[in-house]
Amino acid sequence: MSSIAVLVSGRGSNLQAIIDSIENGYLKAEISAVISDVEKAYALERARKHGIKAFFIDPRKFPSRELYEQEVLKVLIDNDVELVLLAGYMRILGKTLLEAYRNRILNIHPALLPAFPGLHAQKQAFGHGVKVAGCTVHFVDESLDGGPIILQRCVEVKEDDTAETLADRILEQEHKIYPEAVKLFVENRLCIEGRKVRIIS
Ligand code: GAR
Repeated sequence: MSSIAVLVSGRGSNLQAIIDSIENGYLKAEISAVISDVEKAYALERARKHGIKAFFIDPRKFPSRELYEQEVLKVLIDNDVELVLLAGYMRILGKTLLEAYRNRILNIHPALLPAFPGLHAQKQAFGHGVKVAGCTVHFVDESLDGGPIILQRCVEVKEDDTAETLADRILEQEHKIYPEAVKLFVENRLCIEGRKVRIIS
């Protein structure tokens, strides 16, 4: 069974979607660790409620990103983690984690990449006046939200939407495609070919 770690910074609704998918049998995997860079992240609470080991690692205690990531890496290795999921983790990964887990780190982003990378993607899309928004699960590499795309889902923008109502509907889709993408990964059905991810049926 695949051992997963989830890196979080906030409320953890995507973490919850993964937990639920494991508990209802959709995903054959186990979450060995949830790691947060924010002490009060509700995601840590969610992990504890489900008996999952929850770690707060304070980036301010480390003089560099490299040393901080070495500490994160130690937890990953200690817990035999094979796959790392970023779920609302608001830090850019450095080479320590990227090299240790090359092609084994996934991220969920609330926009149809490569449009609107970075922060507040839903607001960026809404402000731009797009008619179709959505979300993306992708492999993480050195680029900002630019790694090979695994799954995407569209959400239509309605005339009476606000940035918040749109973000809510995007989030509903995030909760569906993240478990789907993780399932494909743990079943060994993803094959990276350059920029493209081929899904083996
Ligand atoms: C989600 O919408 C996720 O896509 C986004 O943060 C939110 C976290 O929510 N991530 C990014 O913007 C990363 N660039 P959650 O903590 O409830 O899962």
